[in-house]
Amino acid sequence: MRIDVFTLFPGSFDWFASQRHVANALAGGHELALVNYRDHTPLSAGQVDDTPFGGGAGMVLRVDVVEAALRAHYGEDPVALRERRRVIALQPSGRVLDDRIVDELAAEDELTLLCGRYEGFDERIVEHFTSDRLSIGRYVLAGGELAAMVVCDAVLRKLPGALGHAESALEESFSDALEGGPEYPHYTRPAQWRGWEVPEVLLSGHHARIAQWRLQQSRERAAADRGDAGS
Ligand SMILES: C[S@@+](CC[C@H](N)C(=O)[O-])C[C@H]1O[C@@H](n2cnc3c(N)ncnc32)[C@H](O)[C@@H]1O
Repeated sequence: MRIDVFTLFPGSFDWFASQRHVANALAGGHELALVNYRDHTPLSAGQVDDTPFGGGAGMVLRVDVVEAALRAHYGEDPVALRERRRVIALQPSGRVLDDRIVDELAAEDELTLLCGRYEGFDERIVEHFTSDRLSIGRYVLAGGELAAMVVCDAVLRKLPGALGHAESALEESFSDALEGGPEYPHYTRPAQWRGWEVPEVLLSGHHARIAQWRLQQSRERAAADRGDAGS
């Protein structure tokens, strides 16, 4: 997979790219490219944004600047680009990211993520250049960079070879193995701490009983999340 992230702050991804599962994915042939809108602006003095028509606070990312960056990187009209590739605007009001969307994105060969800053995007960017609007939650961050990292993190760890133990991704919260429910509780040594004990079944060595207990725990947590007491 190749993920291209368009941002005004490519340096903010340095830490992210060094994380083990991301580094594994990149070493395994997946790609994460960072494109700075400012490097492609047709305006003088590196200008990328402007004041909003109609007044109001803040600065708005300009459509001509984003078009120039997309054209420079892909060599084609971004209006056509979104027909053959997911071009995703990160926006607080977009479709809220969940495990199903992550699976959907992880099945793509290529993704483009557009990070906004300040007041966000000129609406024509979203309307004409993007295929999706994605949010990482109903709150407002200062910029799209953290949101892009969340999307990349969740997507890259789904790719073969990213995790040290491939099984980790098979049986975790929201996976089919747990019927889409939350994960069961984990415990490790010491088996006793301040009188707090580990469930006996996990120490039994009986794999079938352990699997059954874990699934039951997951189901109970799912029921609690749904609020159906007693089920
Ligand atoms: C300060 S926000 C703009 C908020 C915008 N004025 C609004 O009220 O919806 C700047 C940028 O951060 C990113 N951003 C902020 N919160 C986000 C969220 N919850 N999910 C995805 N992106 C977010 C978007 O790229 C956005 O353009």
